[in-house]
Amino acid sequence: MKISLDVANLKNFVKDSDLKTLTPKLQKAHDELHTGKGKGSDFIGWLNLPSKTRKASIDELTKLGEDIRKHSDCIISIGIGGSYIGVRAALDFLSEEQKIPVYYAGHNMSSGYLKKLFAKLKDKRVSVVVISKSGTTTEPAVAFRLVKKFMEGKYSAAELKKRIICITDEKKGALRAIADKAGYKTYPIADDVGGRYSVLSPVGLVPLAIAGLDIASLLKGAKDAEKELSEAGLDKNLSWQYAANRFLLYKQKKAIEIFAYFYEEMAFTAEWWKQLFGESEGKEGQGIFPASVNFTADLHSMGQWIQEGERNIFETFVVVKDTGNELLIPSDQENQDNFNCVAGKNLDWVNEQAYKATASAHLEGGVPNMTITLPKFDAYSLGQLFYFYEKSCAMTGYLMGVNPFDQPGVEAYKKKMFALLGRK
Ligand code: PA5
Repeated sequence: MKISLDVANLKNFVKDSDLKTLTPKLQKAHDELHTGKGKGSDFIGWLNLPSKTRKASIDELTKLGEDIRKHSDCIISIGIGGSYIGVRAALDFLSEEQKIPVYYAGHNMSSGYLKKLFAKLKDKRVSVVVISKSGTTTEPAVAFRLVKKFMEGKYSAAELKKRIICITDEKKGALRAIADKAGYKTYPIADDVGGRYSVLSPVGLVPLAIAGLDIASLLKGAKDAEKELSEAGLDKNLSWQYAANRFLLYKQKKAIEIFAYFYEEMAFTAEWWKQLFGESEGKEGQGIFPASVNFTADLHSMGQWIQEGERNIFETFVVVKDTGNELLIPSDQENQDNFNCVAGKNLDWVNEQAYKATASAHLEGGVPNMTITLPKFDAYSLGQLFYFYEKSCAMTGYLMGVNPFDQPGVEAYKKKMFALLGRK
């Protein structure tokens, strides 16, 4: 793996002997996953998505992106949850590669948000990607009604067929029916890939290809991770290591994991991680609560709680070794702020010292922490990270004994809202 996991700051909390004792359970979880005999096994299509995706499909999507960009100034990507966050995570992480602006809809129900978006895009050439596996989720369905009306005010029915793409179930759901009737282009979401595990399926790949991202490298990273993480063994499998350590911390009543990042580009990587782990583990009265902090900003707010609050947390830092950016800090003759000590240094070097200082201070404050290091802000590294987290999440779910692929709790609010809306 090009990404790495450093667990040195766990040594006073997780003993080697505990890891060893857990090995048969890890092996069982691994085998259940790979033989399709575990809980929720009708939703493990994500496991070999990277290796199953053909070059021809990647080329087709890349070509689709080029064509759409020729007649569009921007796109609106409509979706929520697993049909939204992965796309946003990738676009933010790889913002420098993006060739066309992407706006989001269907991830909230704010009139003001959409009104402002329509005003902003009034005179722009717009294309739309609607993503909903079920095709019946309230937020994207209602947003699509509004966006479709906005688009119909700009374009003929024939033009809309070139500008609206639907990603949904192959046969079922309202979005499938709408797309088939109107003749919109569609891409299917496989039955065995759930929302939060779908970023490497058409759900993520279609909007990312349209935005101009290098989806071939994203999939290559994921494919290499798929191969390496299919090997059993605590010494060689990074997902085993991450899953085992978090499970053993959870058993010590460390009920909250904090994903700590130091770059704005990773804010939605953290949101994607939160959805993946939150929806997968939080059931049957179990689950590590996934939280995130944006450092160094949050060191001046949440830093206090982390340093001295209740000791029921652990922290996972996610850092990038070579950000590819250089911004040298100038020297100042008067040195009134006394910061000539960093003159000539790259700002990212100072950021790195902040990470090291934080990891050490929090450890001294009783917060076990580990660090995931990505080589670069590139598509290959992100592909590895996505797959690594999906695999690790499935592993911890099985260690906890829950089905990591369903989300029965999400239905509770939906039912109540449908009742309030009078929807049958
Ligand atoms: O992970 C999940 O299953 C959910 O977050 C869904 O992705 C989300 O509810 C959107 O569902 P759909 O794609 O069916 O509109």
